[in-house]
Amino acid sequence: MSLLIIGGTGTLGRQIVLQALTKGYQVRCLVRNFRKASFLKEWGVELVYGDLTRPETIPPCLKGITAVIDASTSRANELESLKKVDWDGKLCLIEAAKSANIQKFLFFSAQNVEQFDNIPLMKVKNGIEVKLKESGLPYTIFRLTGFYQGLIEQYAIPILENLPIWMTNENTYISYMDTQDIAKFCLRSLQIPQTTNQTFLLSGSRGWVSSEIINLCEQLAGQKAKVQRVPLFFLKLISNFFGFFQWGQNISERLAFVEILNTENNFSKSTFELYKMFKIDPSEIIQLDDYFLEYFIRLLKRLRDINFEDIQKQKNLII
Ligand SMILES: NC(=O)c1ccc[n+]([C@@H]2O[C@H](COP(=O)([O-])OP(=O)(O)OC[C@H]3O[C@@H](n4cnc5c(N)ncnc54)[C@H](OP(=O)(O)O)[C@@H]3O)[C@@H](O)[C@H]2O)c1
Repeated sequence: MSLLIIGGTGTLGRQIVLQALTKGYQVRCLVRNFRKASFLKEWGVELVYGDLTRPETIPPCLKGITAVIDASTSRANELESLKKVDWDGKLCLIEAAKSANIQKFLFFSAQNVEQFDNIPLMKVKNGIEVKLKESGLPYTIFRLTGFYQGLIEQYAIPILENLPIWMTNENTYISYMDTQDIAKFCLRSLQIPQTTNQTFLLSGSRGWVSSEIINLCEQLAGQKAKVQRVPLFFLKLISNFFGFFQWGQNISERLAFVEILNTENNFSKSTFELYKMFKIDPSEIIQLDDYFLEYFIRLLKRLRDINFEDIQKQKNLII
């Protein structure tokens, strides 16, 4: 089976690429910047130029491909690219996949998309889910929760750098996941025919509230967090305010996600049945505390190495 992966340089995409190669799949990645994607080539991937905002570049990438795994999304720092990438680009990709007679199309959406038409990213995700189902392509849709990787920037780094962490008074449990585990589900779906034409809600085996994550990071960092609490209505207010300005739309969207987390309480719903279907033992899943522990150990070792190098340099200067 030959795979075309879109978004291979991304947080989730690179884990899918790595595991696909390990399992012996032939992997091609559609990339828009060869230099940025050079690490994928070193891993053994065939790189092809493509850009979802340039429809004519998509069909050639699909030649000889059996399955498409679309792990792409517009980059947060690229304003105005949401419609071009996540809507127009994905529609072109689906059309091209149909013409190329692709046997399986994997798409990543988010939980509860249909309830949040007011959030542009959610609206386009929902729209693409519908279009994919209507396309007649054999598909699997994974509705994802938040990634562990995103929590580093949200909690660990601000604590280490003594920067404020903005929180609402929310008490919602969220079952975050490591992208390595999401990649595992994704690749399993290629081997399990019953997953075709299905939508799965993926989440980890344990829910966490923000205060628990902060406590964990404080313990591991040996430092107190500077928590700034903001009432939810205030975040909504500034979210609406930013939404008036084009430059602020991105901020507005990010803030709007708070709303999702606060109005939905089944993020932590047990997914044990799902694990059974995918033949994944929940005990194999990377736990959030283990993930953070490994992150802090690696970081502290790196800091010790840098200190050691600095001391050596100073000694050499004195000699
Ligand atoms: N992060 C989360 O917590 C979360 C939660 C729920 C669902 N999801 C979904 O999971 C999927 C993966 O998310 P992620 O966080 O791993 O994404 P990410 O790290 O932001 O990576 C985005 C990828 O899309 C590629 N891309 C962007 N614009 C493109 C274009 N015009 N043409 C071709 N490729 C383009 C990027 O390539 P470059 O390297 O060239 O920029 C990159 O490889 C997405 O569908 C996302 O919506 C994520």
